[in-house]
Amino acid sequence: MSHITKSRLTQAQLDAHWMAYSGNRQFKKDPRIITSAAGKYYTDLDGKKIFDGLSGLWTCGLGHSVPAINEAVAEQVKTLDYSPAFQYGHEKSFLLAEQITEFMPEGLNRIFFTGSGSESVDTALKISRAYWRKKGMGTKTKFIGRAKGYHGSSVSGFSVGGIPANRTLYGQGLESYHLPHTQMPGTEFTKGMAEQGKERADDLLSLIMMHDASNIAAVIVEPMSGSAGVIVPPQGYLKRLREICDQHNILLIFDEVITAFGRMGAKTGAEAFGVTPDIMTTAKQVTNGIIPMGAVAFKQEIYDTFMEHGGPEYMLEVPHGYTYSAHPIACAAGLASLGEIKKQGLIERVNGMSAAWENSVHQLKDTSPIVTDIRNFGFAAGITIAPVDGEPAKRPFQIAMAMWEKGYYVRYGADTIQLAPPFTTEQDEIDSLINALGDTIKQLG
Ligand SMILES: Cc1ncc(COP(=O)(O)O)c(C=O)c1O
Repeated sequence: MSHITKSRLTQAQLDAHWMAYSGNRQFKKDPRIITSAAGKYYTDLDGKKIFDGLSGLWTCGLGHSVPAINEAVAEQVKTLDYSPAFQYGHEKSFLLAEQITEFMPEGLNRIFFTGSGSESVDTALKISRAYWRKKGMGTKTKFIGRAKGYHGSSVSGFSVGGIPANRTLYGQGLESYHLPHTQMPGTEFTKGMAEQGKERADDLLSLIMMHDASNIAAVIVEPMSGSAGVIVPPQGYLKRLREICDQHNILLIFDEVITAFGRMGAKTGAEAFGVTPDIMTTAKQVTNGIIPMGAVAFKQEIYDTFMEHGGPEYMLEVPHGYTYSAHPIACAAGLASLGEIKKQGLIERVNGMSAAWENSVHQLKDTSPIVTDIRNFGFAAGITIAPVDGEPAKRPFQIAMAMWEKGYYVRYGADTIQLAPPFTTEQDEIDSLINALGDTIKQLG
């Protein structure tokens, strides 16, 4: 069914917006226009209610139009709409920084604000290089990412990222090399963390042998890869990466743009998997998606290094930042969002329901032979769909479109369907989402 006749938008208006990460030609023939959102549901132009099966873009774990966040934002707009991010401050950024440190593993207690996940990654990578330079080790400039990793769409992000389609068009990036991913053959349909695969961390030793630790600034990985379709770390894998980084004086960055603030049923992926990085990038859930914001947590020794080598006190210790760093409205939203996560006990809730979620999503295994793998952790799941006619992305697209028609929003990316429902999702909503997805997959395969 086409929605274009119901849209008030003209074709020229549709054409004027070059949409991000979208099939523009297909969308503009059959636009999927969302008009409002409340709780766990969107409403589209037809007035149809649509369950938010990915919490926005992994952003809105609290659901939509949360009164406490709306009120905090409305109040802040009236009081202080903007204040300069450089050399002047407002109270809420300091309050929020402290609030964020409460979610961080011990020792990650210095927070740098950005405007997005991509900017958080850029910040982590730039500061890594600058840190080594400040310590007299300016040759440490190369980065190690991981195959299937996603670290945003800036030049640095695509360089360390490992999803081929995001890299091929853009030519030379930062000098980066990649660990193999951890989606091991033979581990299909593993619930949670697989037993096999830890040894893939040892590939870092080969990369160090090749490039020498004196040239490597940092290793960056998502503790759980989200965009590649929920790739959960094998048992012991992250711990082994940590050991190797320590032994070779290389910084370890966890990109927790998706995993921080509750999605894993823990405060962070670091907490869920029991490994603490030197730097953690976050964004998305920090404001519950209402206003763009990112935050990067550094261990104190990194911050102290810049302060100690900062020159005269009136000088900048690091020439880095964004016009919208610590934006007052984003800070107000962040305080309300993190406050609600705590007040509503949502991390404990996700943790408590993750076993039920796991059981429900793994029921999809028996729906059709085109389901070739299912992975899950916390309130996240990835389902791999067998490719058709050399077009691996086609079936996931068809499934997502059919689900939209039925009133469910799920994400499709490469050969996967990704699910990440709001933290407040009830069992009957999980059942209805999984049943609808199962029926849809069956109809296709
Ligand atoms: C792990 C990770 N890092 C970075 C980003 C980039 O964030 P943004 O799109 O806010 O720039 C994303 C976005 O999905 C992400 O999942």
